[in-house]
Amino acid sequence: MIRKLTAGALLSALMVVAPFLIADQARADDPIVIKFSHVVAENTPKGQMANKFRDLVAERLDGKVVVEVYPNSQLFNDNQVLEAMLLGDVQMAAPSLSKFGQYTEKLQIFDLPFLFKDMAAVERFQNGPAGQKLLTSMEDVGLLGLGYIHNGMKQLSASKPLLVPEDARGLKFRIQSSDVLQAQFEAVGALPVKKPFSEVFTLLQTKAIDGQENTWSNIYSKKFFEVQEHITASNHGLIDYLIVTSDEFWKSMPDDVRAEVDKALAEAIAHGNKVAMDKATGDRAKIAESGRSTIHELTPEQRAQWVEVMKPVWAKFEDQIGKDLIDAAVESNM
Ligand code: SIN
Repeated sequence: MIRKLTAGALLSALMVVAPFLIADQARADDPIVIKFSHVVAENTPKGQMANKFRDLVAERLDGKVVVEVYPNSQLFNDNQVLEAMLLGDVQMAAPSLSKFGQYTEKLQIFDLPFLFKDMAAVERFQNGPAGQKLLTSMEDVGLLGLGYIHNGMKQLSASKPLLVPEDARGLKFRIQSSDVLQAQFEAVGALPVKKPFSEVFTLLQTKAIDGQENTWSNIYSKKFFEVQEHITASNHGLIDYLIVTSDEFWKSMPDDVRAEVDKALAEAIAHGNKVAMDKATGDRAKIAESGRSTIHELTPEQRAQWVEVMKPVWAKFEDQIGKDLIDAAVESNM
């Protein structure tokens, strides 16, 4: 009787817990999904990096981790993505370094006009101690930088030729959500408007704005050159990206899995950086060949005028960014 009761009880208990055990097992076998959201086209350095990352993870992690890439602001635009990340709705993104102002003042360093003389200097700074320290500059809000990826130097485009700062006076320029970029355009007497990347083409096409600043690959892939008659090869600033995740998500992965994901990411970044180098020259050439937009080179004297007017912006942001950080960036030019 006692044995019968025990067996019966065991059976009933099993019937109650079995569905939960099966569900738990299914959860344990479910892949870790990394939604990777970005705003640019797939044929850009960032787009190519994200796709490469997805493919390497698929190849190496045996279904334990699945990366889903959402390009072209399909999932979130840059104004929404970091909030979504902190809510757990997206696990990785690579916003432009100009879009972190709400979370840290330090990354504003990358927006200072005429700070880096070329991409080699940017690379030295990012890989040096000061650049690496910046990866954890948003730890207090739960965001973690996993690495940088290049796009390239920014060029100015407008509905008229911009050869000296005076040419920009009174024109409306779309800018990213950065106070430094706002100050940079105000310094030349222009009217900056902060707008998401996804709206730039329409704003230019409808002439709601007169100009914008961007890299050759973004100007080409988003067809800005079709609605801007003039581009100045100014190389006055930088668009690079921070690959970012939430600290909570990153630490939730098992150590061995996280290490493999990190390795795949490093390889994807190297791939994206190579694409960036090729595109800086290739996309410029394609724009020139299209004949839709005239590319203007600056003489050394014209360039010196832009530097003179824009560089005082550095002093305005020195307290927020830190003089030591600015000095380290300047040193990377040597
Ligand atoms: C990007 O390259 O991710 C966007 C840059 C911009 O907003 O201009």
